[in-house]
Amino acid sequence: MTVITIPQEKFAVRTASKNLPVRMRRLRANEAMRSMVRETHIHLEKLIYPFFVVEGKNVKTPISSMPGIYQQSIDQMLKEVEEAANLGLSSVILFGIPNIKDSVATGAWVDDGIIQKATLAIKKEFPDMLVIADTCLCEYMDHGHCGIVDGNEILNDPSLDILAKTAVSQAAAGADIIAPSDMMDGRIGVIRQALDQAGFDNVAIMAYSAKFASAFYGPFRQAAESAPQFGDRKTYQMDPANGRQALCEIALDIEEGADIVMVKPAISYLDIIKETRHLTNLPIAAYNVSGEYSMVKAAAANGWIDEKKVTLECLTGIARSGADLIITYHAKDVAKWLK
Ligand code: PBG
Repeated sequence: MTVITIPQEKFAVRTASKNLPVRMRRLRANEAMRSMVRETHIHLEKLIYPFFVVEGKNVKTPISSMPGIYQQSIDQMLKEVEEAANLGLSSVILFGIPNIKDSVATGAWVDDGIIQKATLAIKKEFPDMLVIADTCLCEYMDHGHCGIVDGNEILNDPSLDILAKTAVSQAAAGADIIAPSDMMDGRIGVIRQALDQAGFDNVAIMAYSAKFASAFYGPFRQAAESAPQFGDRKTYQMDPANGRQALCEIALDIEEGADIVMVKPAISYLDIIKETRHLTNLPIAAYNVSGEYSMVKAAAANGWIDEKKVTLECLTGIARSGADLIITYHAKDVAKWLK
């Protein structure tokens, strides 16, 4: 057995310095021992469960690429919110799919928009359920981009006014947290100011700060009917190759007033979560996105992996890398497993 020398400050220094073998397996001898020294835990109050809400009544349409996830009308959504609450989950994030899409994202900011109605309904029936409103325009735009379009260009500053208007109307409907996912420059500052001016200074902002132009969003775009009708999102979402740039984005959002910063997707970006942990003491959210979910579900359905173990390992990895909160489609399954 090798005797290794471990730097002074490390925990095993006593054994190593006495020339005794280092036996890391002592602390793995049995489950009680392993639980005692376990460093990372999944807590249900840290998991955020997503909903895709549509107009109508009695609608519950399965998303084929996301088993267990549905587009649903508000009446159906309320039943699932109740189920989630009974399972011990305490927060949801809402994505709206309007009946009509246009070039100014009207459905995103009108008082009777789908997110506004869904938020009001949840807050009325389940006042303790924390409601996070995804603030973006792509689901409401006929071209599927996250901002105002001129020709082939996605315009930054004209999009900010609409985002701010959307955030204020979501707050007015009772949202606890506004979550801008558009990646326009300067939107956190503009939204913060608009919320404060409208008297919503207690409404928090969870900024999708480091949001990468990821192929892992594929199934979500089916669920939210939000795929861009031309081009892609690379002029606003980040290049997956850029870690340092992600830290710039996060620093800017903090400066502009974000209360929580987010890294998205999660599993291919654990290094960014870890570096963000060193950058700020604010809470960090990670989005365990649709494609990450679909891969686990597909492999599990084929009997290739153990769904429960793989899912818990994925979420543990995200938490261990430094995420405080995790948005995940697995939340209800996890709640059932941990019960
Ligand atoms: C909207 C938005 C997207 C996701 C969350 N908000 C898709 C996109 O940017 O195209 C993806 C979430 C997921 O994949 O689960 N801008």
